[in-house]
Amino acid sequence: MDLTLSVLKADIGSIGGHICPSEGLLNAVRKCVKQEGKHLLADWHISYTGDDIAILMTHREGVNCARIHEIAWVAFTQGTKFAKSEGLYGAGQDLLKDAFSGNVRGMGPAVAEMEFEERPSEPFLFFAADKTDPGAYNLPLYLAFADPMNTPGLLLAPSMKEGFDFTIMDVSETEADRIIELRAPERLYDIAVLLRDPERYVVESIRAAGGGETAAVISTSRLHNIAGKYTGKDDPVMLVRVQKDFPATGEILAPYAIGHYVAGGMRGSHNMPLMPVHQDTGISYFDGPPSVSCAAFSVHNGKLTEPADCFASPFWNTVRDNVSQKAIEMRRQGFFGAAMLGMDELEYTGIVDRLHGLNNEFSFREGPSKAAA
Ligand code: F6R
Ligand code: MG
Ligand code: MG
Repeated sequence: MDLTLSVLKADIGSIGGHICPSEGLLNAVRKCVKQEGKHLLADWHISYTGDDIAILMTHREGVNCARIHEIAWVAFTQGTKFAKSEGLYGAGQDLLKDAFSGNVRGMGPAVAEMEFEERPSEPFLFFAADKTDPGAYNLPLYLAFADPMNTPGLLLAPSMKEGFDFTIMDVSETEADRIIELRAPERLYDIAVLLRDPERYVVESIRAAGGGETAAVISTSRLHNIAGKYTGKDDPVMLVRVQKDFPATGEILAPYAIGHYVAGGMRGSHNMPLMPVHQDTGISYFDGPPSVSCAAFSVHNGKLTEPADCFASPFWNTVRDNVSQKAIEMRRQGFFGAAMLGMDELEYTGIVDRLHGLNNEFSFREGPSKAAA
């Protein structure tokens, strides 16, 4: 019977601002998942990245299973009660609906799930990012699955020679899922044209070319689409199967050495470089920098090994130093130009409100336009 990996993630409250959940809150979530999942789950693992708690579950119920989603929803709502009892900041921030309606999609928590026939050895990676949004994975996925300069396996491994099918979602569309499927390498430039705009076009999943096995799934929820206004960044999760027919673990991880600029950081309204961090790391500088963790697992008959912390190796210390430098450099220009997000992506309404006010004070000067001259 096929195995399903489900990861559901939410910010339900944190210590001292948007830093990290408390031990008590993590324990409350653990206790609840253990209780609620005792009949359905083959295994589970709880972790945090910044202020987000992720519940990773293995089971045989398939994707979008109401009973599985409910385990996480109950754990997050119980956790929220505990967070309130401790006075944690932003308690229940990502739970945007009051009652569970069969699927947590559209209710606030981020979801990434995949179902597959377990290989004799089944290694996979679980990514969680805080203070950013799902487009943060666009560049690393493009490099890992479509660029042989990053992934020599695309040239070396006969099993990958046909390439990969990218399913890309237009996350500005709220009526229905607006998606396109494009194959790399054939449609490489079309993929690039979409993925360069990570606030609008987001990789939802990647499969081996020609309807092959699923390699990667990414959460695509945009909280402001659900709430109708900005309520916090969409802090995305991702699952990636690795090795054999898929890129190697090191090929998936390599792009995170760039520390590319993503939307996130202070008040969810700035561009900051993405820092690869240890599992269970809090947030600090300028409500950032946007941070990504990666836990490698092997799973066998649904049972998970302990996680291996992918960004714990000393190699990543140099990367972190570089990202810190990039973050400080960007912060030197404060709110000017590229440092702050565009009007559509600002989490706060202050600037837009002020512009509306100033609009009425503008007047037209007589004579030809100098700007058009
Ligand atoms: C994401 C996150 C941020 C905040 C944003 C605004 O984890 O915490 O996106 O939602 O910084 O938060 P306030 O308004 O509480 O400062
Ligand atoms: Mg938060
Ligand atoms: Mg968060």
